[in-house]
Amino acid sequence: MLEGRKVLLIIAGGISAYKSLELIRLLRKSGAAVATVLTAAGSEFVTSLTLSALSGEKVHTELFDLTSESEMGHIELSRSADLVVVAPATADLMAKCVHGLANDLASTLLLATDKPVLMAPAMNVRMWEHAATQRNINTLRTDGTLFVGPNEGDMACGEFGPGRMAEPPEILAAIESALGERPLAGRHVLVTSGPTHEPIDPVRYLANRSSGRQGTAIADALFGLGAEVTFVTGPASAARPRGCRVVEVETATEMLAAVERSLPVDVAIFAAAVADWHVASSRDSKIKKDSSGRPPMLALTENPDILATIALRTENRPALVVGFAAETDEVIANATAKRLRKGCDWLFANDVRPETGIMGGPENSVTLITEAGAEAWPRMSKAETAERIARRVAQHFA
Ligand code: CTP
Repeated sequence: MLEGRKVLLIIAGGISAYKSLELIRLLRKSGAAVATVLTAAGSEFVTSLTLSALSGEKVHTELFDLTSESEMGHIELSRSADLVVVAPATADLMAKCVHGLANDLASTLLLATDKPVLMAPAMNVRMWEHAATQRNINTLRTDGTLFVGPNEGDMACGEFGPGRMAEPPEILAAIESALGERPLAGRHVLVTSGPTHEPIDPVRYLANRSSGRQGTAIADALFGLGAEVTFVTGPASAARPRGCRVVEVETATEMLAAVERSLPVDVAIFAAAVADWHVASSRDSKIKKDSSGRPPMLALTENPDILATIALRTENRPALVVGFAAETDEVIANATAKRLRKGCDWLFANDVRPETGIMGGPENSVTLITEAGAEAWPRMSKAETAERIARRVAQHFA
């Protein structure tokens, strides 16, 4: 809850400005006061009238607005809030911030503020991927700016890829996190999650029963403690975590490539239930039944071990590498051997015999295996397990 907290929301010019209207509603519902600033480009997408009706406050638009200056100057406006949120944050406004430009109200406030700034970027995928934008994001991160999103998906301009503004509930979660306890602030954590699907032909695949719930809960908990989270997920049924950079993949090979692209990170947590094999000769067209009644032979090839590949590398190895071990027999002995074989620092072993109801269920019961030995944690919800894992990671860096 954000009772008594003040947010200064800057709305720049982008089609996703309409989502900021919902963000104002969510913020007010959670008890926050919202002052809004609308840039000239922003006013092409939403109106001051809508903003003032939703926020219940005057909308600020002009740098040299004498009435405003007599009531509240731009310096005070930039400091009266607990947090400055820019949603949508355009490539242009971010570039201005990088250079310390202050030629309109929004950029002046961002230069004058002494409060944390959270940006929710939104732009066309090519603009997002452009080297200039990526350089600017890195500079802003180094300067201490927080980010939520962008997400990957279909875009208003008809293209597909990263660049969509995070959804209002994700931005709200990022705001709550920015205003709360943040022991993992400044740490980048990678989480893999969900099953992988290995195609047999265009309509069939090999898969497993993972729901992705534990991975989502871990990403949520890490984000809640202030970490910047990259979440690489297979086709999981669980909801995607809030406030994280989500990368959707299908196969183990794609997951490894996405993980490698996300390095360097401080921590990597491999919660995905990666398929051990893929079909060696998957077909581009549907396999038809043959008149002889003989089923097709499927030759399998081993998939790359993503955890071991990252844990055993010398260059860019995350400072903390965490694995999971799904076991049905001799859980501790197998998991202890697995930790050494895969080269990870911590390994959470879980008993996935069907009678435990853990695989795909709401609860987990894990044993943490480290160099120091085995530590059994009580059975609890996946959200509580995740919270405890995130706190343990924070302790590790304390
Ligand atoms: N893992 C991985 N890539 C794979 C297989 C597993 O990154 N190709 C990771 C999982 O995310 C998990 C850990 O390795 O963190 C252990 O997964 P598990 O399925 O228990 O182990 P396997 O290596 O598949 O071993 P086995 O099936 O022989 O028990």
